[in-house]
Amino acid sequence: MPPLVSEEINDYLISGKISSTWVDGVIIVGAGPSGLATAACLQEKGVKSVILEKSDCIASLWQNRTYDRLHLHTPKKFCGLPLLPIPDSVPTYPTRQQFVEYVKEYARHFDIKPRFGELVQSASFDETSKVWRVQSTNKSKSLASQKVEYVGKWLVVATGENADDRIPELPGLQSYRGRLIHSSRYKNGADYEGDKVLVVGSGNSGMEIALDLSNFNAKPSIVVRSPVHVLPREVFGRATYAVAMALMKRVPLWFADRLLVLYSYFIIGNTAKYGIKRPKNGPLAMKEHLGRTPVLDVGTFAKIKSGGIKVMPAIESLTTSGARFVDGRCQIYDAIILATGYKCNVPSWLKGEDEVFSDDGFPKCGWKGRRGLYVAGLSKKGLLGCAQDARLIAEDIKKAYISG
Ligand SMILES: Cc1cc2nc3c(=O)[nH]c(=O)nc-3n(C[C@H](O)[C@H](O)[C@H](O)COP(=O)(O)OP(=O)(O)OC[C@H]3O[C@@H](n4cnc5c(N)ncnc54)[C@H](O)[C@@H]3O)c2cc1C
Ligand SMILES: *[C@@H]1O[C@H](CO)[C@@H](O)[C@H](O)[C@H]1NC(C)=O
Ligand SMILES: *[C@@H]1O[C@H](CO)[C@@H](O)[C@H](O)[C@H]1NC(C)=O
Repeated sequence: MPPLVSEEINDYLISGKISSTWVDGVIIVGAGPSGLATAACLQEKGVKSVILEKSDCIASLWQNRTYDRLHLHTPKKFCGLPLLPIPDSVPTYPTRQQFVEYVKEYARHFDIKPRFGELVQSASFDETSKVWRVQSTNKSKSLASQKVEYVGKWLVVATGENADDRIPELPGLQSYRGRLIHSSRYKNGADYEGDKVLVVGSGNSGMEIALDLSNFNAKPSIVVRSPVHVLPREVFGRATYAVAMALMKRVPLWFADRLLVLYSYFIIGNTAKYGIKRPKNGPLAMKEHLGRTPVLDVGTFAKIKSGGIKVMPAIESLTTSGARFVDGRCQIYDAIILATGYKCNVPSWLKGEDEVFSDDGFPKCGWKGRRGLYVAGLSKKGLLGCAQDARLIAEDIKKAYISG
């Protein structure tokens, strides 16, 4: 069977310095799990697509912007992409490398060949011709021909929830003279042996990086600014994530939350005693309403209890050599790692879609926009959400594609 993913892109117009390329099918921006899954689902329905990816490889978040010891924190059952499950040989919590191998195999299997090095800088709907115009820059080309325009009837936004690093506005950030990085550039603790390191941010990344630093004999402290739910990764020997999903189908959310919090209390103890307050709302309610993921503990909390990792309150300001905290304490740190999360970059390139997207770049009404615009992977539901969006989008586009 010939590959259905569009390879035959014809340069049909050279206008000034921008050469326009008609895409007979769907333009997908981003070759992460969402973009690849969408391309695969479209292909299954006989719809062609082309993926524009700014990096030089697929799943660049996983290959280039994650740390060595990362495992999926959700069981593999909930992380597989449509039409090709994660193989049985892979353990329940795949390592980052195992997941990358799976995604590479996925792209090979469906013969998906993204156009790499294509940074999409602007996309908008052309009211006159009723098409999407997507402009990207190919840095490896000569200056004159760097800008390329792709034109097509369908556009899928798949640039992810983690497109840019979120850097907090900490007073004194510029004055700090030690090593300062965002967690997306952290690989492992080998470079930090013996160092006093402050990890800012107490989500899953921050908690796990603090643990990694401690395992490499650094002296980590972690800033826990606001209340957070720490849950054991397993409940009665089953993945907490799976148990939570099952509970949500059977009992009301508040009740599932009570059970999870009670269980966590018995297994890991009172986290507030160690400076980590629990939010008033339950972990599932927080996820559902605020998109805030609970921390699934992989050993950090035991280190906090034993004193291997210190918990610090919010930062008041950074100093040249460390940080001053809101409780008045001042500490010196050799390095600071900002595990302060990510931002979506959609507002920086998608123009004129304020009706569909909020200011933070997340869609107001889920996966379907208007006039052939779709969104994959911005539902704050992790890889499960990526897979769900991909299926729905392909189904929806197929109808229009076949009839048109
Ligand atoms: C450390 C970490 C751990 C995680 N662990 C889990 C987990 O265990 N389970 C889970 O379900 N989810 C997890 N996630 C959530 C994660 O968002 C998803 O797993 C998944 O990577 C999302 O896929 P995506 O394709 O939507 O986005 P991404 O994987 O971010 O892919 C988006 C792609 O778009 C490209 N791109 C961005 N902007 C442009 C542009 N302007 N032009 C061209 N290309 C562009 C990027 O280079 C990137 O390749 C984790 C996230 C992080 C950061
Ligand atoms: C990302 O990592 C992969 C695998 O190591 C490598 O082939 C690729 O060149 C890297 N890309 C960037 C932009 O660093
Ligand atoms: C980008 O430009 C280089 C050099 O001209 C070319 O080899 C490559 O195919 C281009 N990439 C895309 C996606 O067009």
